Amino acid sequence: MLRTVFIFGLSVQLLILSVFALDVTQFPDDNEHFNRTLAGIMRPRVVGTAGHRKVENFIKSELKTLGFNTEVDQFSERVPIFGNVTFTNIIGVLNPRARDFLALACHYDSKYFQDDPGFVAAIDSAVPCAIMLNTAKTLSSYLHGNFKDRTDIGLMLIFFDGEEAFKDWSDTDSIYGSRHLATKLSNTRSSNGSGSTIDRIEVLVLLDLIGAANPKFYSFFPNTHGLHHSLSEIELSLSATRQLEGKSLMFMRRPSTGFVDDDHRPFLQQNVPILHLITTPFPPQWHTPNDNAENLHWPSIRNFNKIFRTFVYEYLNRHKKQVNLRAALR
Ligand SMILES: *[C@@H]1O[C@H](CO)[C@@H](O)[C@H](O)[C@H]1NC(C)=O
Ligand SMILES: *[C@@H]1O[C@H](CO)[C@@H](O)[C@H](O)[C@H]1NC(C)=O
Ligand SMILES: *[C@@H]1O[C@H](CO)[C@@H](O)[C@H](O)[C@H]1NC(C)=O
Ligand SMILES: [Zn+2]
Repeated sequence: MLRTVFIFGLSVQLLILSVFALDVTQFPDDNEHFNRTLAGIMRPRVVGTAGHRKVENFIKSELKTLGFNTEVDQFSERVPIFGNVTFTNIIGVLNPRARDFLALACHYDSKYFQDDPGFVAAIDSAVPCAIMLNTAKTLSSYLHGNFKDRTDIGLMLIFFDGEEAFKDWSDTDSIYGSRHLATKLSNTRSSNGSGSTIDRIEVLVLLDLIGAANPKFYSFFPNTHGLHHSLSEIELSLSATRQLEGKSLMFMRRPSTGFVDDDHRPFLQQNVPILHLITTPFPPQWHTPNDNAENLHWPSIRNFNKIFRTFVYEYLNRHKKQVNLRAALR
């Protein structure tokens, strides 16, 4: 079945506009991998605890198995309640020498609740992190085939640490990892000496609060509206060809009514185009003991995996020259 997918920056350009067949069977599901990956992440993992270290090591070893160049960005900082703690952002890269990158991101720490030491933070954000690794796994024949050694575009998977506030969410008590990494990348010169590494991120796709029933994703930023629209097109196409479960759609072709503070903020402030894939309204399980395995909605997760995998593949495969969505932000 043929459909047209438009990926464009609002103000300036119609970047990519072509017709192609969407056939998700080219890259089949690997739900066994998804489940195993989710099980490796979905445990209490408050920064500084043994559970956190286990998840950190699990993600690093998964990235290695998937053939990513893996680096960590580690730093210590004083935080409320816990005092001096060490944070570790994990960054996996394919085609590290490429001129530009598509970056996918989630946070792997879980929120600390004094009276709920067993809090596993399934949607926040074990599922989003598992989706990223499963995307890389299911696309691996492409990523290690045609995609390998491309010089125009690379793929970056970022697992932020310390997204959650230790006490009350504020500018200083939240998103520790992404604040540190954005500063670091903006101070890192590219290997050819011109431009900073953060300027090589064409778009940062941030996944958060995914896995509950009834997900709705709105478009938060005008300059990535075209990318959001593409996700919707892919969903409609897969739905029309009965490649999805159920009938309800998750990608709303509407702007969000507000800003949701999250790991993308420090990147946004550095002019990085953001596609914020967070469900609004927040699922009722959010920051409650019910954010656990029992309340995950598997048809939605499987649908999201298929749509997102197709999106990432199409973005990378159709990429020819630099996609500049920054202009609309200035
Ligand atoms: C993955 O886990 C879900 C929830 O437990 C289950 O329904 C599904 O059958 C599992 N899939 C595979 C392939 O193991
Ligand atoms: C915090 O802990 C780290 C790692 O243990 C240590 O290197 C650093 O000096 C400590 N910083 C402060 C301010 O205590
Ligand atoms: C150096 O790299 C940057 C970022 O990838 C790129 O924008 C720039 O065009 C490159 N410059 C040269 C001279 O190759
Ligand atoms: Zn949270």
